[in-house]
Amino acid sequence: MTLHHFILIIHLLAATIWVGGHLLLAICYLPTALKKKDHHIILNFEKKFEKLGMSSLALLIITGIWMAYDFGITAETWFHFSSGFEKVVSLKLILLFCTFICAVCAQFYVIPNLNENNIKNIAVIILTVTSIGVAMLVLGSTLRYGGI
Ligand code: HEM
Repeated sequence: MTLHHFILIIHLLAATIWVGGHLLLAICYLPTALKKKDHHIILNFEKKFEKLGMSSLALLIITGIWMAYDFGITAETWFHFSSGFEKVVSLKLILLFCTFICAVCAQFYVIPNLNENNIKNIAVIILTVTSIGVAMLVLGSTLRYGGI
């Protein structure tokens, strides 16, 4: 096994946790919270998932940038949208930035004021972050064919 292959396995495990955790939240916990009008269901999940989720996101960034450098996609080439591979890496970085914006909105504006009447606000953020995660996974899957 090469070092790149090992890093790719870590990347895939982290993607499994990040995307899987958000799909579980969006498909199982969120509908129950909306039906029962109980925002604690979401808060309890977030509390349990936070450390694991944030560590896997950090691992995704480190291993992703590492592998991009391995393929010669260095910071000077980012956001040029010139080659198929670099396009995917740049799109992933933009989507990563969108994930951060959602996290800041959730942590500073939505979660502190969350109650049974505004669960829909956190639902929008959960569905957005989940969709972004799935999009990053689909984008990643194109890289073995040279990108988009
Ligand atoms: C939520 C975040 C992310 C998810 C869910 C994700 C998911 C994936 C998946 C499923 C693959 C496919 C591997 C394969 O086809 O064998 C992949 C590959 C890859 N990802 Fe990510 N990724 C994420 C973030 C990032 C970031 C931030 C970067 C770097 C900017 C990145 C760079 C790469 C590279 C370079 C590969 C190709 C590895 C290879 O084929 O050797 N990823 N990713």
